[in-house]
Amino acid sequence: MRDLAPRRQDLDPIEIASRDEIAALQLNRLKWSLRHAYDNVAHYRQAFDAAGVHPDDLKQLSDLKLFPFTTKHDLRANYPFGMFAVPREQVARIHASSGTTGKPTVVGYTKNDLAVWADCVARSMRASGTRPGDIVHIAYGYGLFTGGLGAHYGAERLGCTVVPVSGGMTTRQVTLIEDFKPTTIMVTPSYMLSILDEYRAQGLDPRKSPLQVGIFGAEPWTNAMRSEIEDAFDMHAVDIYGLSEVMGPGVANECVETKDGLHIWEDHFYPEIVDPITGDPVEDGGQGELVFTSLSKEAFPIVRYRTRDLTRLLPGTARSMRRMEKITGRSDDMMILRGVNVFPTQIEEQILAIEGLAPHFQVELTREGRMDEMTVHVEATITHVTDEARKVAGHALRERIKDVVGVTVRVNVTEPEKVARSQGKAQRIVDNRPKG
Ligand code: DLL
Repeated sequence: MRDLAPRRQDLDPIEIASRDEIAALQLNRLKWSLRHAYDNVAHYRQAFDAAGVHPDDLKQLSDLKLFPFTTKHDLRANYPFGMFAVPREQVARIHASSGTTGKPTVVGYTKNDLAVWADCVARSMRASGTRPGDIVHIAYGYGLFTGGLGAHYGAERLGCTVVPVSGGMTTRQVTLIEDFKPTTIMVTPSYMLSILDEYRAQGLDPRKSPLQVGIFGAEPWTNAMRSEIEDAFDMHAVDIYGLSEVMGPGVANECVETKDGLHIWEDHFYPEIVDPITGDPVEDGGQGELVFTSLSKEAFPIVRYRTRDLTRLLPGTARSMRRMEKITGRSDDMMILRGVNVFPTQIEEQILAIEGLAPHFQVELTREGRMDEMTVHVEATITHVTDEARKVAGHALRERIKDVVGVTVRVNVTEPEKVARSQGKAQRIVDNRPKG
């Protein structure tokens, strides 16, 4: 793999500024953002008043803990445009989350918000090793989902040649990569695996593909998955994080030279970690739920948003801005099996450690009597399709999950192509337990 670290002189000065400088900027912006939310969004005025706080109470960054949280429930209660802080005519773009349950959450951007977003994504891409002039293949979905358009405008901002493919039509994805020769691809890691399968199905060597950088996010993925993709394509696999409520992709990104967690673009997003149950602040370094406050957003300021994503805050390395550890999972995706907390990422790690298993898997939950049961459905690789080989691999996985994760599960090793494929965010958990 080539050394693709950007030159220091090409970074935004704030990326490598002193902590004092970053904190001073954050404090100014935070004061503005709280005031902007309070003055222009009825929900924030009511919530702050009810909590007995006023934007003027923020004298230092740590005072933010006095302010109330915002949850997905608050956004839904103000559907569709109730959380906007500018007149609707100044909203240049709308995005919305898919909303698998209930109403989708709707977010808006002014022209200036869109420019800041493009800057954050361009910064993320540069951190990933992409350079002006590169060809970028975008296979995140375009539409209300923030992935496609967010990546698109960031790539344009960086000065790249953009190929806006969107998700799906996997055969065509491979053809376009081979014909147009992009050096960067932006896609979910699970869909990258489908593209890898398609390479092999077409008899092509993925290591000879033109790709040098993959910017993968929108779902949890492990370092084991990183190695799998990097080895298969002989490319860098870098993590990008974001969420619609806070902006979209480009809230945080790994640096290609260190790949040690994601630097949060702290000049625009103020992170906190809280205890997911009590909401109490957790010191840097401690595990908990990530909470974000926007520092510069005009149309949709967000104060102490509970992301449900679980991680830790760590000091900066390749940049001065703090890092978040690769996400373990969402608190919504945490399964509790006979008292043990289990995340799909833990299952992914074990699968990738066993020969003969492909990284395509789903975890099914069922209930027998009063007990919850977990079955891991995972595909055998093409080299391990016999009954005997699948049995051996399945046994090894079951033992490993018991030893490392601490739970007893059932394992169903299927033939290749039998586990549902992702074209965007993978669905890792299938909950077949009786409702209610
Ligand atoms: O997934 C934005 C995005 C698009 C990020 C493309 C990166 C690349 P939402 O659909 O609102 O937005 O989903 C946000 O996805 O709260 C996390 O649970 C999860 N997520 C996003 N990025 C990562 C990541 C986009 N790198 C939700 N690792 C977030 C783990 C991620 N989970």
